[in-house]
Amino acid sequence: MKYFGFAFILFLTDRAAGFGTTPHLKQIVIGRCYEYVTLINPSSRYNCEEIWQEFEEAVIRQSPCGVRVKDYQRMFRASTQILPCDKLLFWSKTRDLMHSYAAVKGSVWTLENTLVGFMFNDLIWCRQQDRERGFDYHTCPEWSTCLNHPVYSLWKQASVNFAAAACGNITVLLNGSIHQAFNRKSMFGSVELENLNPRMVFHVHINVVYNLEGPFVESCAQGSIMGLTEVLTTRGFHWTCTDNDLTLIILQCIKNPQWAACQRCSNSL
Ligand SMILES: *[C@@H]1O[C@H](CO)[C@@H](O)[C@H](O)[C@H]1NC(C)=O
Ligand SMILES: *[C@@H]1O[C@H](CO)[C@@H](O)[C@H](O)[C@H]1NC(C)=O
Repeated sequence: MKYFGFAFILFLTDRAAGFGTTPHLKQIVIGRCYEYVTLINPSSRYNCEEIWQEFEEAVIRQSPCGVRVKDYQRMFRASTQILPCDKLLFWSKTRDLMHSYAAVKGSVWTLENTLVGFMFNDLIWCRQQDRERGFDYHTCPEWSTCLNHPVYSLWKQASVNFAAAACGNITVLLNGSIHQAFNRKSMFGSVELENLNPRMVFHVHINVVYNLEGPFVESCAQGSIMGLTEVLTTRGFHWTCTDNDLTLIILQCIKNPQWAACQRCSNSL
């Protein structure tokens, strides 16, 4: 019993430590901002110190579960960005593939390619109960237990801005190996889709991708993705939908050449 108790406490502290504010948050955020304006997008002009200050202010002023979307308004104003037409990529549950797709296509823009997305990617933050003590590096509330989680609110506003700025042709990458490939509760389904403007977006290209080993659960003509195409049609968007885009299969095969599906592909060349 004693042993069990000890292991349990270890497990809890481990978890708590894993969910606290990312260590060196300030250095990382400011450093990424300078990297962005210096190396990644040298033509852009931003005041990285000011962006950090507005961010810190937004998080510290409110309770740990009470940072609303609008509390980040000043931070977003300091990091306003004009996005290119015809290049935006939206995705849901296809994170790994999205990265290699973006790398190969070169000029594709995901939320993580924007300044705010780049600065805050994979980071966690929250304030201590006692405002004077600043960020809580030990533990942060889980998203589900918070009405206005500081991390969620920032990503929500970043997603709204990203979608609202979309113009020309856009691509949506969905995962056909899971049920609810189009999930109305995902950031794409609940926030981004709603903020796309049919007068600015010329064409929505949906790409359904599968794990090489399957399962093949949903497609353009089956399951939740039809819910998406319905919404698009109703709102007046032009769209096309492709399952099994060859570029995407080849990208997956480069990473996993041993899969049977990839052998067939190389044998037929
Ligand atoms: C689809 O989703 C599953 C479960 O989240 C994930 O393991 C898999 O890598 C995803 N497939 C693709 C092609 O992104
Ligand atoms: C936009 O999509 C349409 C329809 O697929 C295509 O005909 C057109 O060439 C695309 N334009 C650009 C700039 O990609």
